[in-house]
Amino acid sequence: MIKKCLFPAAGYGTRFLPATKAMPKEMLPILTKPLIQYGVEEAMDAGCDVMAIITGRGKRAITDHFDISYELEHQIQGSSKEKMLADIRHIIDKCTFTYTRQNEMKGLGDAIYKGSALLSELDPFAVILADDLCVNPDGDGILGQMVKLYEKYKCCIVACMEVPQDEVHKYGVIEGNEIEDGVFMVSNMVEKPDNDKAPSNLAVIGRYILTPDIFDIIKNTKPGKNGELQITDALCTQAKKGMVMAYKFKGKRFDCGSVDGFVEATNYFYNLEKNQK
Ligand code: UTP
Repeated sequence: MIKKCLFPAAGYGTRFLPATKAMPKEMLPILTKPLIQYGVEEAMDAGCDVMAIITGRGKRAITDHFDISYELEHQIQGSSKEKMLADIRHIIDKCTFTYTRQNEMKGLGDAIYKGSALLSELDPFAVILADDLCVNPDGDGILGQMVKLYEKYKCCIVACMEVPQDEVHKYGVIEGNEIEDGVFMVSNMVEKPDNDKAPSNLAVIGRYILTPDIFDIIKNTKPGKNGELQITDALCTQAKKGMVMAYKFKGKRFDCGSVDGFVEATNYFYNLEKNQK
């Protein structure tokens, strides 16, 4: 069983300046719920109850969000607003939150490596990038689908989706053979390739299941694209040993790290809520 989920949340979120000058990107709300809470709910639905969060300077609002707020709760006790805190109270009651800081932004691979202090050396774990907001109205969440696949293959799993060829340069891109419907055995991975040199248009998005041997591999991986330690490069080493599967998930993903994706997600959830009323 995968019980722990890592949330790298140390990035600066510069595409959302000035909003992210003093506020973590992960706390930006889609309607009334911060991005990271959507991620935590997806992890809980997939069976995780330990949320390990990689923070950095200026990210204390995340820690406060996943803690009890006695004054506020006392203030709204007995009023109609009380139910607005029910979901977050449920999360706080059911999950354990652990934190460590990434002191320097050295890339996603480095952020995940910092997470080793919060994880077991023996167990696989999940990774969610909260700025990729994923939903599946027709069934299991994206991480839940990946956990099921992990039970079968017992190796690293990355979530992927087809993107237009002129957008592949924004993603880690995989090369692989489809071994069952929507499941690829990965043979190669490239971080942010030139559009005309990408091995495919299958882009990795912010959902991973990783096996703990990834930490030794990251330790021996050199900085790659943009001088950052890339998780794609570490996973590529594992892929060459046939230890990585890519899964074309069922559902929808919003790139809430970009303003366009953020607005798209806001409209989607607004219409969903309106139609439920
Ligand atoms: P991004 O590159 O999308 O996030 O990283 P960013 O740097 O915060 O955003 P921009 O580009 O400046 O607007 C993807 C995810 O990886 C985390 C980020 O917090 C984000 O959730 N990350 C990235 C880290 O935790 N540490 C890093 O060194 C890099």
